[in-house]
Amino acid sequence: MTKKELFLKACKKEGVKRTPIWFMRQAGRYLPSYRKSREKAGDFLSLCKNPFLVKEVTLQPINELDFDVAILFSDILIPLEAMGINLSFVEGKGPTLEPIDDKAKLDKLKIIDPYTSTDFVLKGIELIKKEILNDIALIGFGGAPFTLATYAFEGGSSKDFKKTLKVLYENPDFFEELLEKITEATILYLKAQAECGVDSIQLFDTWGGILKCDLYKKFSLPFIKRIFSSLKSFKIPLILYVNGSSHIIKEMATSGADVLSIDHKNSLSRVSIETSNTFALQGNLDPYSLFGSKETLSKEIKQVLKEAPIRGHIFNLGHGILPETPVEKVKFVIEKVRELTEREVYE
Ligand code: CP3
Repeated sequence: MTKKELFLKACKKEGVKRTPIWFMRQAGRYLPSYRKSREKAGDFLSLCKNPFLVKEVTLQPINELDFDVAILFSDILIPLEAMGINLSFVEGKGPTLEPIDDKAKLDKLKIIDPYTSTDFVLKGIELIKKEILNDIALIGFGGAPFTLATYAFEGGSSKDFKKTLKVLYENPDFFEELLEKITEATILYLKAQAECGVDSIQLFDTWGGILKCDLYKKFSLPFIKRIFSSLKSFKIPLILYVNGSSHIIKEMATSGADVLSIDHKNSLSRVSIETSNTFALQGNLDPYSLFGSKETLSKEIKQVLKEAPIRGHIFNLGHGILPETPVEKVKFVIEKVRELTEREVYE
């Protein structure tokens, strides 16, 4: 069984000889080789826009650490830039965007042609696919419209999402108009990724969990549904990640996703019960547990495996890996998961 089969079968809840593993943000600053590639590029956005470096960075965690699945190296904010929102990454501060705070700015946003404005992403996918052939699955991704809208309203990262939540109550029509535009762009962007051959697509609704359930059902879920339904014909597994999602699992289950990616505050067994064991689940090791001793880390890994469904588990973190994470702990997790999930029968 190839690594690609392991992943694709696990997504379908079929029996596999061991549990596949990958980490959100597995290509990143904790890896010395990533830091070198980034230095070569000059800055983060230039790295994202060079298809050869996109390929190089995407494959570093596969070649150096032996992860089972590759995730395209890019960023969820790339399509916002393609829509005409100025974007930069300031060292130590994260992303900075021109805030969309009036109707004129909203009206100016463009319908994107992914083959011209995000050609570097699509060329990157083609280069990666040529190298990994049929051995390893490549996950493409995008941001869920609500999560992308928070960046557009706040002008960057936020701790309290004040501007987002104010607009949502003060001017819901304006909010929805932005969500509509981002949804249209995301559909075109992700269809293009699928046309170029990604084997799966993950939508990151990183901040969807800040909404109470009725607001999630109005301002996030319908747009995710539209995106997933537009991708169904590609017949590739669709993964939905929401951070802090314990209160909206039932809603996530209606999104059209095949796999639910669960954060570390929740428990996989509880999600299985809530969803009548109908979904493959991805997750949900606490990213901070990699700072613990190997003993502590082993315990945390075992706990995740104990709660995971027998069929249909993809081992992952509950959120992205932290830049300060020791590389040897990442290797330890990969080895441990292999050792603990090796199965004699293929089922
Ligand atoms: O998973 C992967 O390895 C694929 C690559 C990937 C990146 N960002 C690379 C990146 C993916 C899937 C993302 C998604 C992303 N980007 C999300 C959703 C997932 C999550 O973790 O919550 C969000 C919210 C963003 C927006 C974003 N990009 C922020 C807030 C930041 C700054 C954070 C920081 O740690 O400085 C980024 C930059 C970014 N995206 C880096 C990487 C490797 C670090 C850039 C650098 O300094 O080299």
